[in-house]
Amino acid sequence: MKIFITGGTTGIGLSLAEAYLKEGHRVGVCGRDLGKLPEDFLQKYPKSHAYKVDVTNKDELFNAINEFSSGQLDLMIANAGRSEGSKPSWPDFDVYHNIMDVNVKGVLYAFEAALNIMKKQGRGHLVSIASVAGFVGLPGAAAYCASKAAVLRLSESMAIDLGPQGYDVTAICPGFIDTPLTKQNKHPMPFLMSAEEGAQRIKQAIAQKKVMYIFPFRMKVIITILDKMPRFLYQLIWKIPGVRP
Ligand SMILES: NC(=O)c1ccc[n+]([C@@H]2O[C@H](COP(=O)([O-])OP(=O)(O)OC[C@H]3O[C@@H](n4cnc5c(N)ncnc54)[C@H](OP(=O)(O)O)[C@@H]3O)[C@@H](O)[C@H]2O)c1
Repeated sequence: MKIFITGGTTGIGLSLAEAYLKEGHRVGVCGRDLGKLPEDFLQKYPKSHAYKVDVTNKDELFNAINEFSSGQLDLMIANAGRSEGSKPSWPDFDVYHNIMDVNVKGVLYAFEAALNIMKKQGRGHLVSIASVAGFVGLPGAAAYCASKAAVLRLSESMAIDLGPQGYDVTAICPGFIDTPLTKQNKHPMPFLMSAEEGAQRIKQAIAQKKVMYIFPFRMKVIITILDKMPRFLYQLIWKIPGVRP
């Protein structure tokens, strides 16, 4: 397969890239800082390609995807993303704008570039890395939650539209995965999973062409309860002393 992964220089994207490369697939990754890639990455995996790209820059991303695919692309994993980091209770709108640009527009650009290629093939698979944070509004993560909710609904709708036309669309909703992104978190992270294990589970869900995959199971149960409960009760939870991070 020919697979492009946005944001594959660290974390989940890198683990996914390595998992696919070990199986012999051709994989393109991108990021703003290719120096974050393991030193021997390109030598170790001759079928790997790396592109210095900011996903908020449409031209940069389109050029990289077009160059990598040269007309053939089986799987696009729109993974690049960022969070608020320190969970501030006062909104930083510059940060909010950038989160929306990276997490939402970055996915839109990746899907658009991929579909331009896949349309000529009449098939292909689009995957977004959303989050369990897309189901509820979490404290200190307003833009992150909003961005992941947008990506979730985008993917869900596109699956309905494109499925009958021969294209697969998958939204992945991980709980806590141990990556540079979550290393910034000071709060407890229940059911924290390694990036390698997370990547294996995501890879399996992609192979099974799931429309939505929420994991781990215990986090899925918790987020479903939080999502379905009356909203006043949900607000009350965060008012309990010591609960808010
Ligand atoms: N870790 C978790 O617990 C968790 C849970 C749910 C969902 N997710 C989602 O999973 C995805 C990957 O996160 P991660 O945990 O693996 O974080 P990570 O280790 O920080 O990786 C983020 C990746 O995105 C890239 N990136 C960030 N901004 C970019 C930009 N403007 N242009 C291009 N690339 C950019 C980074 O590369 P450069 O820095 O080189 O640009 C890096 O490769 C994100 O969408 C995140 O929201 C993570």
